[in-house]
Amino acid sequence: KTFNMDDLIAYCNQYGFIFQGSEIYGGLANTWDYGPLGCRLKNNLKDAWRYFFIQRRDSSYEIDADILMNPMVWKASGHLEGFSDPLLDCKECQTRHRADDLINDFDDTANADAMSQQEMIAFIRSKGIACPVCGKSNFTDIRNFNLMFATRRGVTDDSANTVYLRPENAQGEYVNFLNVQRTMRTKLPFSIGQIGKAFRNEITPGNFTFRTIEFEQMEYQTFCKKGDDEGLYKYFKEYGKEFFQYLGLSSEHLRYHDHEKLAHYAKAACDIEYLFPFGWGEINGTHNRTDFDLARHQEYTGKTMEYFDANTNERYIPYVIESTYGLDRLILAVLCENLVEEELEGGDTRVVLRIQPFLAPIKVNILPLIKKRHADRAKEYHHMLSKYMMVSYDEAGNIGKRYRRGDAIGTPFAITIDDDTIVNNTVTVRERDSMEQITVSVSDLVPYLIERI
Ligand code: GAP
Repeated sequence: KTFNMDDLIAYCNQYGFIFQGSEIYGGLANTWDYGPLGCRLKNNLKDAWRYFFIQRRDSSYEIDADILMNPMVWKASGHLEGFSDPLLDCKECQTRHRADDLINDFDDTANADAMSQQEMIAFIRSKGIACPVCGKSNFTDIRNFNLMFATRRGVTDDSANTVYLRPENAQGEYVNFLNVQRTMRTKLPFSIGQIGKAFRNEITPGNFTFRTIEFEQMEYQTFCKKGDDEGLYKYFKEYGKEFFQYLGLSSEHLRYHDHEKLAHYAKAACDIEYLFPFGWGEINGTHNRTDFDLARHQEYTGKTMEYFDANTNERYIPYVIESTYGLDRLILAVLCENLVEEELEGGDTRVVLRIQPFLAPIKVNILPLIKKRHADRAKEYHHMLSKYMMVSYDEAGNIGKRYRRGDAIGTPFAITIDDDTIVNNTVTVRERDSMEQITVSVSDLVPYLIERI
C-alpha cells in the first residue's frame, strides 16, 4: 500500500520529519517545521545536490548570498512589476484560488499555462469548474497578485525603508557573477550555485510542503557565450532527470513539461514534474534566461556586467542557463516515492521507507539483544560508528519491534549485538529492504557499512 497525503502528513508528524509550523498556536497557514529526521534528510539532499552540481562539474562554485538585497535588484530583475499569480475569489465562500490550478486540477490536459487571463476565466465559466472548498461555481474575475514579501528595515514605518525577502536565489548569483569570475580566475562557461531560503506571498492552499510561503531552493546558474545557450539548456534538462534518478525517483513518476507561456526573463523554460499522490507537480525548472538579468543589472547600476573573452578579444554580457530545484518539494517526492506499507509472511505488516542509504537520516540502528548482557558492548560500537555516520541506539522492546522502528524511518542497517559478539567479535547486520541478515566481523564493520552506504 502506498500513502495518500493525509497518511503522509500523519507519518511525518509521528516520526519527527515535519511538524505544523507554530503548532501550539494553531499553526500559520502554509508553514511547516522540519523535525530531527526531516532536518537530516534535508541536509543529505543538500549534500547530494552539492556532489552532483558543485563537486562533479568543472568550474562550478557555491556561494551563500544574503536573503535581503538592495531593493533596486528587484526593480531591475522585473519582480516588483511582473512577479504575480492570477487569482480569483469564490463569491460564495470567499476563498481565493489560483486560476491555473483550478484549470489544471479540472483537466490535466488543458494547458492553462498558454492561456491569457480572459481565456482562463472563460474556460472556468464555460466548464462550470467548481470551487474546491464549497463546490459552487461562482467566481470573481481574475486579478494579478504580486508574490513579493515586503518587510521594513529601520525604525520608521516609511515606504523608503521597504526591503524584500528574496523570491528566488538566482539574483544573488547574478549580482556576484563578476566577483566569482575574478576571484576564481575562471572562464566561460562556469556555474554558480547556492542553497537558500526564498519567500513568496502564496495565498492559496498548498498540498503540505508543496507550496509554502517560505521554502528552500537549490539554484544553479551557468554563464555562457550566446550560441552555447541552447546546447546547455538541453544538457541541463537531461542532467535534472539524471539527478532525480540518482536520488531514487523512478522514471515513470517523472515527466517534462515544456512551457509555452514564459516568465518575464525566459526565452525557453521546461519543468520536470513528479507524480505526487495529488497529481503531477513541478519539482525543478530549466530556464534559458538569456542575458536578460545581467543586462538589466548593468542598465540599473551603470556598472559593466561584461565578460572579457581572452580567446576572441571580445567583451559581452553572457547568457545564463538556470537549473533550479525546490528542496522542500524534493523531500516530499522522496518520501512519496519510498514510503510503503508492506505485508509480510504470516500476515503481519510493516511500514518501510525504502530510501537510498545515502539519503537516510540514520544509517545504522544498534540493538543489544538482551539489555543486561549486551548493552555495554552495543554502546561501545555506537560510539565507534558515530565517528563515521549517523547512528542510533535502541534497547527498548522486543527485537522485532525495534527492527520495525528503524524500517519505518528508513534506517538501512540494523546491527544486533548478542552472545556471539562477546565470544567471537562478530555482529549480525540486517538489511532494511530484504530483511536478510549476515554476520560481519567487528574489525570489518566500518569499511563494510561505508561501502554499502
Ligand atoms: N529562479 C527561478 C525560480 O525561482 P520557480 O519555478 O519560480 O523558478 C523554482 O521556482 C523552484 O522552487 C520550483 O521548481 C519549485 O520546486 C520551488 N518552489 C517555487 N515556489 C515554491 C513554493 N511556494 N513552495 C515550495 N517550493 C516552491
